Amino acid sequence: MCGIVGYIGTQTATEILVSGLERLAYRGYDSAGVATISEGKLNCIRAKGKLHNLREKLERDVTHAQIGIGHTRWATHGKPEEHNAHPHLDSNTKIAVVQNGIVENYRELREELKNKGVEFRSETDTEVIPHLISQYLTDSTLTFLDAVQKTISRLEGAFAIAVINADNPYELIVARQQAPITLGFGQGEFFCASDVTALLPHTRAVLSLENGEIARMSPLGVEIYTFTGQRVSRFPRTLDWNPGQVEKQGFRHYMLKEIHEQPGVVRSSLETYLNPNWHADENPDFSPINLGLSSQLYDNIDYIQIVACGTSWHAGLIGKYLLEQLAGIPTTIDYASEYRYSPKPVIPHTLTIGVTQSGETADTIAALEMEQARRSKLESKFQAQLLAITNRPESTIGQLCNHIINTQAGIEIGVAATKTFIAQVLGFYYLALDLAYHRKTLSNERLTEIIDGLRHIPDSIEKTLETQDHAIEELAHEFTQETEDFIFIGRGINFPIALEGALKLKEISYIHAEAYPAGEMKHGPIALLDHKVPVVAVAMPGSVYEKVISNAQEAKARDARLIGVTSAMNVQEAAHTFNDVLTVPEVEELLSPILAVIPLQLLSYHIAVIKGLDVDQPRNLAKSVTVE
Ligand code: AGP
Repeated sequence: MCGIVGYIGTQTATEILVSGLERLAYRGYDSAGVATISEGKLNCIRAKGKLHNLREKLERDVTHAQIGIGHTRWATHGKPEEHNAHPHLDSNTKIAVVQNGIVENYRELREELKNKGVEFRSETDTEVIPHLISQYLTDSTLTFLDAVQKTISRLEGAFAIAVINADNPYELIVARQQAPITLGFGQGEFFCASDVTALLPHTRAVLSLENGEIARMSPLGVEIYTFTGQRVSRFPRTLDWNPGQVEKQGFRHYMLKEIHEQPGVVRSSLETYLNPNWHADENPDFSPINLGLSSQLYDNIDYIQIVACGTSWHAGLIGKYLLEQLAGIPTTIDYASEYRYSPKPVIPHTLTIGVTQSGETADTIAALEMEQARRSKLESKFQAQLLAITNRPESTIGQLCNHIINTQAGIEIGVAATKTFIAQVLGFYYLALDLAYHRKTLSNERLTEIIDGLRHIPDSIEKTLETQDHAIEELAHEFTQETEDFIFIGRGINFPIALEGALKLKEISYIHAEAYPAGEMKHGPIALLDHKVPVVAVAMPGSVYEKVISNAQEAKARDARLIGVTSAMNVQEAAHTFNDVLTVPEVEELLSPILAVIPLQLLSYHIAVIKGLDVDQPRNLAKSVTVE
């Protein structure tokens, strides 16, 4: 989605803005631009396509401005062309605006402005903003801040904006209405960005604006107000991230680096959440899991609903399985984009879980906000209990939810989620085990067995990466030329892994892929099969193994090339069924999804690399989907 960077201080703004935009590039974009003010003049440079196009233009037009705003655009209204790229300016070339989000009532505002003689230069929703600000400044004695405030009161939708004005060269105004924007505090210099990754090289003292807040930044400091003009007193907090987390560190792609970070992520998550002093044989009166959630929450859950999108939805689907099968709590999962318009009936003592790696997905945030709002007027047993499962506790979801499981995955740059998925899935294991302990739905012996199994997972992921990476790269060569479709099948706890394998392949290799519960194939999708459509079966030993094998045989009988993901212990037997066998170390069925997904991540990665595609920034996709 669109990225915003702003700077005011004593350094040259342009380089700070462009390098900030480069750090936001992972979010997805199709054009970019910066506007700066020097010697009372506004200078705006924009370019279609990648950021090096913008850099080239900026080299021909050097300014030493100390204030500016920059933007990477992910097209929503108007094609990805230079004239639609941000910043957008008013007719007098005094005011420049960048926006992330959508101004929903832009058509009527555009008409109103056109009737007053304003000529528009773009098809975007954003361009109404500088024109409105300009009108308020011309028609009245409003200050710059007041004119921006008044303009915002006319806008409908979810957005964040940053604005500069050549007539006020020492002020940068930033506002948030349901799209994220964070302020960064340096020594005599201040920053803003739609994502803290852009701020990391400059400062770790950050403050996220809340909905309905507007900030006036000057070289002397930052003032924050509500949209209704009340001054707000808030303090920055210090991030414990380091800039290295957002470097490739020798890997060819961020996605590959993040796949290889998974053992470390799981280790750090286990260290954080497993209670080392818990021993089943001592019959402890505390949980083996240390999530730090209030006991009041546990006493009051009769029903759980999960909302998420994409890969996070797949993690939630595994979560549903675990919460029902281990803790015995009825659980539903919905796409957040659907839930927000067709919510479930209000049930008392409900826990609502939002799952998101960015912490900013507009649909997930809106579904949770809606849930909170509709329950707030009801009696206490109906009140919303919101739990976030996220690696970004500082994000919007972190501010919104009263409970958080920080998955410890850190920031993920590759658009295709890998390490954040595994970490979210682990979050659900912890929650289900903790609930199971509190509700006594599992014996201490069984809890120990599962926890011991979890402790082996980091080594098993390492082993999978060591033994499978090269073999999967070889295999990938066979699907890069003529393969147009893939089918993934799985059952039970591994059906979500089939879905995730298919999504990864679609996202980065642009090969059409579908996933089905293996038993559903014969109810329709089997008609798609022939020798040109490879079938990947997630066939982990356990309760549904034989079923998956027989479903795979049905596909083989239709000439499909069969690829099996199974346990290394099972390889000889599996070779009778599958043309190609991808293995993971032996693991009990309950924990098998955490390993089974690894070969599928590698398969999609290698196919995309061999096809020469942009693995980290696949076409049309954004890392953080902050519009509906
Ligand atoms: C995952 O590979 C995708 N990029 C996408 O499906 C993603 O999972 C989805 O947009 C949800 O994002 P979130 O986790 O940030 O909410």
